[in-house]
Amino acid sequence: MSARAMSASFQRLPKMACVIKGLIRRPLTQTATYNVSIFEPIPREELVTKFKSRLRDRPLTPGSSNGGFPEFLAEPRESFPLGVRVRNSNQFSLAELTAKCMEFVEENLSHNPAILFRGLPARSAEDFSIIAQGIPWKGLSYEGGVGGNRRQVDKVIGTYTASDEPPEFTIEPHNEMAYNAVYPAKSPMMAVVGKRRWLRTASCLSKLDPDVVRKFEEKQVRYVRYLPDKSRGEYQNWQHVFATTNKKDIEPIAKEQGYNITWDPTGDLYLWQNGPVSIQHPLTGEKVWFNQAHQHNATYYKTLPAFAGANIPDEKLPCHTYYGDGSVISPEAMQHLRATSWSCAVGFQWRSSDLLVVDNLAAQHARMSFTGDRINLVYLTE
Ligand SMILES: [Fe+2]
Repeated sequence: MSARAMSASFQRLPKMACVIKGLIRRPLTQTATYNVSIFEPIPREELVTKFKSRLRDRPLTPGSSNGGFPEFLAEPRESFPLGVRVRNSNQFSLAELTAKCMEFVEENLSHNPAILFRGLPARSAEDFSIIAQGIPWKGLSYEGGVGGNRRQVDKVIGTYTASDEPPEFTIEPHNEMAYNAVYPAKSPMMAVVGKRRWLRTASCLSKLDPDVVRKFEEKQVRYVRYLPDKSRGEYQNWQHVFATTNKKDIEPIAKEQGYNITWDPTGDLYLWQNGPVSIQHPLTGEKVWFNQAHQHNATYYKTLPAFAGANIPDEKLPCHTYYGDGSVISPEAMQHLRATSWSCAVGFQWRSSDLLVVDNLAAQHARMSFTGDRINLVYLTE
């Protein structure tokens, strides 16, 4: 999506909010309003997790044993995430409630980049498809996406599992598809089965070392993607990522997403592109840190169970990042990005049927390692 299209998408929001008439609204937080016949605030205490999550030296967590990592994950702040409960959900259908939730999002997301709805009568992937159908923003596909191991759940609607990475692995904070020229502005997610913590971070730009930021802004970041041929049976082969076996199908998709393409003689594919590290939020005008310099670095993949201990060169891992001129990002700068992201993060209690809508530009998200059953689904939108 172009910057102009993104801007237009957000500029619609105030107009759409204005057409909602006859509702009683009260301040939910300093910056939120709601229809009291439909929603009530969730007390912050309900969102606080029952025990602290250790971050420092956390197993299978990129960078956790290096400098600057906070010892524990912080508790939710007063309105981050902003929690609202659906009252009397049996008075409405799921589709009707979805429409009311999305009205709420339209009104409040600009000041509350993570909104959690609790109490929806949604229990299954099919229910999440009903929700996705009622979301008024254009859906986006993961086709050609990288950096996540997931599968499409509803091929017609376009819902996905949030991640199929091994449960013992902690996925560090990131903005979804920030490496890409086309990225989602909003990410509605639902827990089909989920009683454990989930976490989001606020934009962390103000906490980053200005010298680190300046160097990245001058040079940009280069994302290099390595997609082996399926014949090697390796992680994220290009046939799987692009959902095709025909090389000719790939070029238009890659070109549209701004990638340069190189096929090597063995049939493996390299894609690379440069991107900014920060953007101006089209709705608030705020400059936000928006990239995946750390999560697409080889150091992330070297922590994944699938690669840990294997002696694979950086360029043969699924992704690697450099400065935009091709020079190496220092380990110190990489660690600073990671530690700062975690220091901005909060964890909160996440339950089955919870629906979370995230402003993907203003907030990052992550996933803690876990045990037991857990199914989270996602639908990406402009
Ligand atoms: Fe993600």
